[in-house]
Amino acid sequence: MKLKIFKDSNPIMRQKSLPVEMPLSQEDKDTLFAMLDYLKKSQDDDYAKKHNIRAGVGMAAIQIGLLKRMFVIYYPKSETEYVQYALVNPQIIEESIKKCALEGGEGCLSVDNEHQGLVHRHFKIVMKAYDLLQEKDIVITARGYDAIVLQHEYDHLDGKFFYDRIDNNNPNKPLFNEEII
Ligand code: NI
Repeated sequence: MKLKIFKDSNPIMRQKSLPVEMPLSQEDKDTLFAMLDYLKKSQDDDYAKKHNIRAGVGMAAIQIGLLKRMFVIYYPKSETEYVQYALVNPQIIEESIKKCALEGGEGCLSVDNEHQGLVHRHFKIVMKAYDLLQEKDIVITARGYDAIVLQHEYDHLDGKFFYDRIDNNNPNKPLFNEEII
């Protein structure tokens, strides 16, 4: 399955994605695995260069034009372990008051322009979802970077981009009690 990445200039990206019918159809499963495969390949420098694509750690279905509440995540946790999920109908059931942001800001496969500034997010979240990789409903408790990636992808399901969360008047000013990582 060859995936075409939709850019933020496309109005569909601002739409709210719809709940996915369960149990998952074979088509939805194939789509999620193709999205995951894209992320894996994008992190291979030679492949990325050859195909002129950027490395990504997450992708929501809307980024390939599907208005479905599902996304994948893939990035190394250590030398041998990966954080990887193919989440369907995720819900954030808890979020901390404490905030956090990545020091260098965020990026997105659908955003070509540079958007400098701190992207304010919850430091800790608890997310409930069906995970295709584990083939069951799971609850994820995530902090810091892990929580940021989940919130970034979740935002796509509601038609939001990371730069919506940058304070344009004070782009580099941390919030009170915000951890910069
Ligand atoms: Ni994104």
